[in-house]
Amino acid sequence: MSLMDKHQFIERNATLLLVGSLLVVSIGGIVEIAPLFYLENTIEKVEGMRPYSPLELAGRNIYIREGCYVCHSQMIRPFRDEVERYGHYSLAAESMYDHPFQWGSKRTGPDLARVGDRYSNEWHVQHLIRPRDVVPESIMPSYAFLKETPLKVTDVGMELKANALVGVPYTQEMIDSARADLVAQADPNADTSALLARYPKAKVGDFDGDPTKLTEMDALVAYLQMLGTLVDFSTYDDATGYR
Ligand code: HEC
Repeated sequence: MSLMDKHQFIERNATLLLVGSLLVVSIGGIVEIAPLFYLENTIEKVEGMRPYSPLELAGRNIYIREGCYVCHSQMIRPFRDEVERYGHYSLAAESMYDHPFQWGSKRTGPDLARVGDRYSNEWHVQHLIRPRDVVPESIMPSYAFLKETPLKVTDVGMELKANALVGVPYTQEMIDSARADLVAQADPNADTSALLARYPKAKVGDFDGDPTKLTEMDALVAYLQMLGTLVDFSTYDDATGYR
């Protein structure tokens, strides 16, 4: 049988063609998927990344609860227009402790992956209370109630524990001191040396403008202010050349 005849023979025999196609597709699949089971980590380690502090984690939970991700992404793509507007494109390592990640799929508002340090705490509080006071054309809803809602702190240790279960490197010490760390981070008079040793670069102080109360606004602003601030990009070795 010539090659041409063999080809026609397979092509005209539906079962043989199906078996042959499946064989070819599964070889391709195995070559792509199998190595992932043997790699210890598919995310390149990047200096500066650390798990969220308890207060930041509480703020992140509020961010998820309020559906901020419906209008905001946290994923800067490696395109010139995005990099010029938002800063260095997002690295996989920057969301390695996110369960679930907050990349989002829609930008009604701007990307927030590097919003930390861009505005003052006062700006964020004012913006979340009445967005149109600071950005007149804004269509963002008001979240004024966050400033009146006391932050629930009782289960924060469990929160860290749950994250540890899915691979976030929280130590037993971090879990045990979670509640104290959470309170200290939002208290301008607290001794925060232990907190900062556990969570380098954590922003500390009163976030919501009312030092007498620990509110959900404190936690959300603490979270927003740390977004994108952990990796020092002036020392990051960037192979692709985008800045
Ligand atoms: C209905 C869509 C919508 C939702 C939901 C929403 N936002 Fe926004 N957000 C916007 C829009 C539009 C802007 C741009 C105008 C402005 O600055 O207010 C914005 C701006 C922002 C900014 C300023 C970003 C910058 O770089 O200037 C921050 C911070 C922010 N939002 C945080 C949040 C948080 C936190 C939540 C959840 C509590 C949230 N947003 C929910 C639409 C939304």
